[in-house]
Parts: sequence; C-alpha cells; structure tokens
Amino acid sequence: MEETTAGIDSRKSTPSAELVPVFPPSNEFSARAHIGSLEEYRRLYRESLDSPVTFWGRMSAELDWAEPWQQLLSWDLPHARWFVGGKLNASYNCLDRHLAGPRCNKAAIVWEGEPGEVRTLTYRQLHWEVCRWANLLSRSGVGSGDRVVIYLPLIPEAVIAMLACARLGAVHSVVFGGFSGKSIRDRILDCGAKIVITADGGYRRGKIVPLKKRVDDALKDVPMVKRVLVVRRTAEPVPMLAGRDRWIEEELKEVDARSEAKPVDSEHPLYILYTSGTTGKPKGILHTTGGYLLGCALTTKYLFDLKEEDLFWCTADVGWVTGHSYVVYGPLALGASVFLYEGSPDFPQPDRFWRMIERHRINILYTAPTAIRAFMRMGEGWVKPWDLSSLRLLGSVGEPINPEAWLWYHQKIGRGRCPIVDTWWQTETGSAMIAPFPGATPGKPGSATLPFFGVDPAVVDDQGNPVPSGTHGRLVIRRPWPSMLRDIYGSPEALRSTYWSQIPGVYLTGDGARQDEDGYFWITGRTDDVLNIAGHRIGTAEIESALVSHPSVAEAAVVGEPDSEKGEALVAFVTLRQGEAASEELKNELRLHVAEEIGAIARPKEILFTATLPKTRSGKILRRLLKELVRNGQIEGDTTTLEDPAAVTALSKEVGQAA
Ligand code: PRX
Repeated sequence: MEETTAGIDSRKSTPSAELVPVFPPSNEFSARAHIGSLEEYRRLYRESLDSPVTFWGRMSAELDWAEPWQQLLSWDLPHARWFVGGKLNASYNCLDRHLAGPRCNKAAIVWEGEPGEVRTLTYRQLHWEVCRWANLLSRSGVGSGDRVVIYLPLIPEAVIAMLACARLGAVHSVVFGGFSGKSIRDRILDCGAKIVITADGGYRRGKIVPLKKRVDDALKDVPMVKRVLVVRRTAEPVPMLAGRDRWIEEELKEVDARSEAKPVDSEHPLYILYTSGTTGKPKGILHTTGGYLLGCALTTKYLFDLKEEDLFWCTADVGWVTGHSYVVYGPLALGASVFLYEGSPDFPQPDRFWRMIERHRINILYTAPTAIRAFMRMGEGWVKPWDLSSLRLLGSVGEPINPEAWLWYHQKIGRGRCPIVDTWWQTETGSAMIAPFPGATPGKPGSATLPFFGVDPAVVDDQGNPVPSGTHGRLVIRRPWPSMLRDIYGSPEALRSTYWSQIPGVYLTGDGARQDEDGYFWITGRTDDVLNIAGHRIGTAEIESALVSHPSVAEAAVVGEPDSEKGEALVAFVTLRQGEAASEELKNELRLHVAEEIGAIARPKEILFTATLPKTRSGKILRRLLKELVRNGQIEGDTTTLEDPAAVTALSKEVGQAA
C-alpha cells in the first residue's frame, strides 16, 4: 500500500489543520477482501442501521443456533436483549461445529512458551481437552450460571478453561496474571466464585510469576472458594492445601471426553470481566452469549479480513477484553488458527516477536501502540533481519496510535504492504466499534476511521447536541448494538447511571473525539478519571485508595502525565500523616504498596510529596489543576473555587523544585 494523494479526497487537512496522508487499500488487497470497496461498506452500513432485522437476520447465520431467534432486539434502556428466543452454545460454535468438515485437523492454537517450547492443538484436540475439562468442572460442582475465576498464564489451558466454562453455561471471570492477590480476592468476592483455576506459575522475562502463591494470598479469608484447580506449568514446588487444591492433570485422569455443549439462551451470561471506572472499585462487566459472540465473529471476519488459511496473532493476554474477543471467541468461532505467546516481547531479546512471525509464518498481527512505540525505541535493527513477508494485515488497539507509530508500523513491520486496522472499542462494547474495513476504507494514520455495522457513534457536547465536524466533543453511541455490555455485575443501577443517563438516551463512552470532514473519527482519549497506561485501563480512584491504605499516607491524588512510550504515566500527589517524613525510601515503599494492592501496572512513575492538595470549598480534590501542573509546570486555570488559593501557589513551587 503506497501513500498517495488520491484516495478519499487527496490529502486532507484535519481540524488542527495538519496535512494527513491517506492510505487507500491496494487493488490487490481489495480484490480478495470480504468487503472490497467503500461503496460496498457504505451500503451495508446503511442497511445495518435502516433495516436491522434484514441485516442481522442474514449476519446472524454466521453462528450455529440450536434454536433460531424470534425477535431481534428488546430494548428497555439500559437493558437490551438481542436475538430474543435464540439458543446456542459458545463452546459449540468455537469447536464442535468445525469438527464435521475439513477444519477438524486444522490448528486451532499454535502456542509458544516463553522458554521456547511449541505446542499445537488441532480443533479436534482442543475439543477433546475442553470436553474433559468441562466434565472435570462439572464433577467439581460447577453448573450453569456458576462463576469460575481463571488466573492463568497465557498457555492453551487458559483458552481451554474459558471454553469449558462456556460449554456448561458457567460464567468465567478471567483475572489478568499481572494483578495482585488482593485484586484477585476483590474479584472473587464480587462475583461470588466457588472455584478458581490457576497454575503453579508462568514465565515472564525469564522469571517465574508466582500465580498459585497469589491465589493462596487471595483466599486467606475466603472460605466460599471450595476448590482450586492447578495446572502444572513450571514444576516449581507450591503448597497444596489438602481438601481444597487439586492438580488438574491428576483430576483429568478421572473423567472421560464425552461432553455435550448445552445450548443456552441467547442472553445467558458468558463472562464477567473486571475493568476500571471512575470509582475506587473495578466494575464487573457482564457479557452474554448470542450478541457478544456474533459481534466478535463478524468483526474478526470483516475487520481483519480473515481467511481460512490465516494464522492470526492478537498479542493481548486473555485477562483483557481484547484477549477474550480476538484470541478466543472471534477467531475460534470462525475456525481460524490462533497464535498464542506466553511471555514478554523483549525476551530473551527485543526481536522475539519478529523471530516468531518468521518461524510460524504469522499472517495477521494485532497489537497495541505501546508495544509499537517500544519496538521503535529498541530500533529497527532488531526487526530488519527477519522475514516478515507472511504478514498481510496489522491491527492496533487499546489507545490512540500516534501518526509516527502508525507510519513506523506500516513501513518497518508491514514493509509498506499491509493495511493497518486501528480498532477503537472498550471492555463494555465487547467487540470493535470504529475501525477501517481493510479492503475498503482508506487509512489515515491516527484515526480509527469509520463505524462497524450497526454502530451509531456521534461526537456531542455536554448536553448531547452534535458538534460540528472538526470540533472536539464527547464520543457517544446512539443506539444499542449486539455485543454491548448487559450489566455491571452486582450493581444493576450503575449500568444506567454510568453509561446511559449522563447524556440521556445515549451510551457515554468516556472518550473524547472529533470527526473530520470525511466523517472519520479521531479518538483523543478519556475525558473522565480513567487512565490508559501502556494500553491498560486503570482508574485514578483505585490507585488513590491503594495509596491511602498505607499507614503513612493522609491523602492522595493521582493524575496522568503524557508519556512518549506508554501514552500516559502515573503521577501521584501524596500528603503524609503528621509525624511522617518524606523520603526516597518511602516513595519506593509506596510504589511497592500499590503494586501489592493492585498490580505492577498501577505503580506510579512519580510520587510527589506535598503539604496540601488543591480542594474546592466542599472538599473535592481538583485533579484538573494537578493535571495542568504536571503538563505545563504551572496552573493558569480558574482557581476561584478553591478553598485555599495559596495552597496552589505553594504546590506549584514544590513541583517546580521537584522537577
Ligand atoms: O480510551 C479508549 C481506549 O481504551 C479504552 C478502553 O479500554 P479497555 O476497556 O481496557 O479496552 C481496551 C481494548 C479494547 C477506551 O475507552 N482505546 C481503545 N482502543 C482505542 C482506544 N483509544 C484510541 N484508539 C483506539 N483504537
């Protein structure tokens, strides 16, 4: 794909009046693509909004339904039910239906462990494993609707565990392996899991991550969990609590591989995944079966232009929504071959990714801008020697991709040939919402471009009025879509108040955006107190409550600071309790404390001890001013509502001295 001045309308000026190059799909790519022109995309997109019953009637045939649905949508804001009356099973759709045809001996998973071992599971083998695991879970007391917490490294067993739950109609809640014991406990208690699946450890940068130990810490005062099933991954000795803990490999000897995938209602819960919001506590986002699976399958097919022979690599961990939708449910529902890698991208050397792409002949790579920027920093020398000619499409997700990173990805990894699919979406949206169709949509570096079928986004002001093109505003979605979240587990009221009522009648994404004159969306990042650190979502309030749980801390306020590699970095302002002295040791101790409370991703980059924090007269900390301070080194904004304006002057001085 060559940069061109033709395409959508030659070089466009964005609202900020920069010139943006346009990258139309190559004729070669378009000729083979599922959607081969912008006109075709526009026609289908219009149909999806104007004639949804016809459109989804056709599209829903992408899945196998045990019983057909009767009604497309029942919408009682904020509660949606999609494909009402339909019955299906996600595990059946991801496995059983592929066994009857030529896919049965096709690789479902090609996995590489960090130490270098490779395992391949065909669809038949994966099905066999999932059936045995389903029987084991069922023998362990797991039934339909029960919650199962999964805390595993990125090994095939993580996928097996998820599909085994889905097979039984049980609800999985995967916890990312980087989260702490305390985070696991909070999630177990919130979702009421009776059973946890973990491993003796996993590999990360040559070291063993002590997963089982963290689960033991998490379960210290949680008698509700009666069973812990443990995968042997590292052979590290780990304590096994008699009566509670069992080795999976031993248990599997007791079960057979005959298991029927039980059809469940289209709206039956499939999983709960915790994500950060603006409160101190992560929210359990609930996704259900039919609409979610269809959203994953269709976006995988059309946005990644998936072909039968592709080896698809989404580098996300299954602990994040990207892993749920594009490691597991989307690609497997389509019978694709999925590549999985357990470890760190720079281990043992910064060329690990490129080595694996050459070795396994990977065709589609879907990763995060943070990773791309890290590779840029490590230098092209690590990429150049490798044969990346198998790649035919590149994806980006998790945070806005800056044009420099986009262009580097395009030139150095895609070698100028591969379309880049920048997908904007969220844990709540279930599947990609705004993204180019690679055979149809001309790319513009930094823009997620145009909406997917059935998605009706708009950029509006605080009252919900659409803003003119080029103007920054809030990104909202104006109608329900099949893979949308159905609930916040345990807090049904929060569903309405968080997403559907601040601007009445529309879904508030929490992101800012602008649209250009071609209708392209440019996402500018969160407008609320949620941060995006290296593509990982984390709430400032969570980190603040972790900080104030330390005995030396009186108050804390956390803000994001622009970071050239991670997108944003965490800066914490901390006031100490009387008698506590600020020191470098205390800073390190607080960083460690946050890592223990939440996980390493939440560790502040900078901690600034300060005598006071700027507050309103009603006692609310004004983060806006702190943000201004870390970004500009001074505060120019309105300080008239402050309880103590002199505090700001003092703070500016302190920050100036610390810098
Ligand atoms: O701010 C947006 C950003 O990530 C947030 C969602 O985070 P999470 O629920 O963890 O899901 C991440 C993976 C889908 C969004 O509110 N975000 C995600 N993708 C993009 C993005 N920002 C800009 N461009 C993207 N492509």
